Amino acid sequence: MKIDMTRRRSLYGALAGVAAIGAGGTLWRAWSNGVFSVGEGPAYAPWRAWPHAAAEGPPGLVEAGILASNAHNTQPWRFRVSQDTIALHADPARHLGNFDPFRREMQLSLGCVLENIWLAARARGLEVRVETRGGRLAPGDTEAAPVAVIRLTPGERAEIPEYRAIANRRTHRGAYDARAVPAALQEEMQGLAARAPNSGSFRLVLFGAGPEKDRLGELIVTATQAIIGDREMAMDSARWFRFDWRAIQEHRDGVTIDTVGLPPLLTAAAKIIPAPSPEQADRQWLAGTRDVHVATAPLMGLIAVRDLYDRPTALDAGRLWQRLHLWATHRGLAAQPLNQPCEMVDREAVLGAPPRTASALATLTGDEAWRPTFIFRMGYAEQAARLSPRRSPNQVLAG
Ligand SMILES: Cc1cc2nc3c(=O)[nH]c(=O)nc-3n(C[C@H](O)[C@H](O)[C@H](O)COP(=O)(O)O)c2cc1C
Repeated sequence: MKIDMTRRRSLYGALAGVAAIGAGGTLWRAWSNGVFSVGEGPAYAPWRAWPHAAAEGPPGLVEAGILASNAHNTQPWRFRVSQDTIALHADPARHLGNFDPFRREMQLSLGCVLENIWLAARARGLEVRVETRGGRLAPGDTEAAPVAVIRLTPGERAEIPEYRAIANRRTHRGAYDARAVPAALQEEMQGLAARAPNSGSFRLVLFGAGPEKDRLGELIVTATQAIIGDREMAMDSARWFRFDWRAIQEHRDGVTIDTVGLPPLLTAAAKIIPAPSPEQADRQWLAGTRDVHVATAPLMGLIAVRDLYDRPTALDAGRLWQRLHLWATHRGLAAQPLNQPCEMVDREAVLGAPPRTASALATLTGDEAWRPTFIFRMGYAEQAARLSPRRSPNQVLAG
C-alpha cells in the first residue's frame, strides 16, 4: 500500500512535469509566433511612421504610397525619385504567377499606390501631374519602363478627407454585421467614382440586395472552388501566405494569420498550432469565402471597365479602389476585395478555355461591353481588422 502511494505520487509528479513542459512549449510557441506582439516589429513600422515621421519631399510621399492596398500584399513596386518627380515602377519579380497571368492585379495595385501618393502630395501643397504608360497588359511582359511618372509642382494645399485615412485603412476579412450601407453613402461612392480621374473609363456598380447580388456571391464561391481545383493557381497564391512570425519580420509582405479576419482567440490558436497544409488552407479559404465573406456582405460592388488589359485603365481602376477603401475607412465602414471571379477570367483567357466566368460576370454589369476588373464587399464590423506587414521605403527606393 505504502509502495503504491509513493508510486502514485511520482506518477502525478511526472505528469505534472509533462504538463508544465507542454504548457511551457505552448507559451513558447505563442510568444515566438507573435501571439503577444500583434502589429509590432520592423514589419509594421511603416504604418507608425506615416505621416508624422515621414521624410520631406518625394521620399516622404513614397512612405504614403507603400501603405496602399495591393494584391496578396505582394508589394510589386519600386520607386525612383528626384527633387520633383516620382517614377513608379512595377517590380516584375513580385508577382502572383498563374493567379495573375496578365499582371492585371499588379497594375491595379500600382494604381492604389498612385492614389495614396496623389492624396499625400495634395495635402502637402503640391500640384500633381501623372503621366501614365500606355499599351496593353500581356502575359510575359517584363518591360522595365515606369508605369507612371508623377510630376510635382508647388500649388494650393488640399487636405481631402480620405487622406487622413491612409494609415488607418485595412483589408477586413472578418464577419460584418447585418446593418445595411445607407443609400446616401452609396451615392457618395458613386460621386467619388464620377469625379475620379478618367472617370469615363470605368463604372462602379453596387449591389445592396436582390438576385444580382446573390448571383455575384455565388460566382465568388464558384470561382474560389475553381482556383482551389487548379493546382498551379493555388500554389502561386499560397507562396504569399506567411504563417511564421520570423518570416513576416524578414519578408515584410504577404497575407498573415493576423489579417485573415479570425476573432482574437482563434487568431492566437492558429498561431500556436502547426501551419496548415496547402490543401487545408485552401479548404479554410473556401469555407471563409462562403460562410463569412459572401454570407456577411451587406453591400457588394464591382468596378467595370471596357478593356480589362488596357494599362492606364487598370491603373485608374486601382486608384478608384484605393480611394473608395480610404473613403470607407473615413466613414467607419469595413471593406474587402473579393476578386476570385476576375482572376478566373484571366486564367480562362490565358488557357484558351471557354470564358464561363466572363460570360457569367457580363450579366451583372447590365452591358456586356463593361467587364468587372475588381469586386468587393463593404459593411460595418464590430472587430477591428489588423495591420498587414510592409517593406521599408529604403527597400523600394532605387537610385
Ligand atoms: C488588385 C487587388 C486584388 C485584391 N484581391 C483580394 C482578394 O481577392 N481577397 C482579399 O481578401 N483581399 C484582396 N486584396 C486585398 C489585399 O490582399 C490587401 O490589400 C493586402 O493584403 C494588404 O493588406 P491591407 O489592405 O490591409 O494593407 C486585393 C487588393 C488588390 C489591390
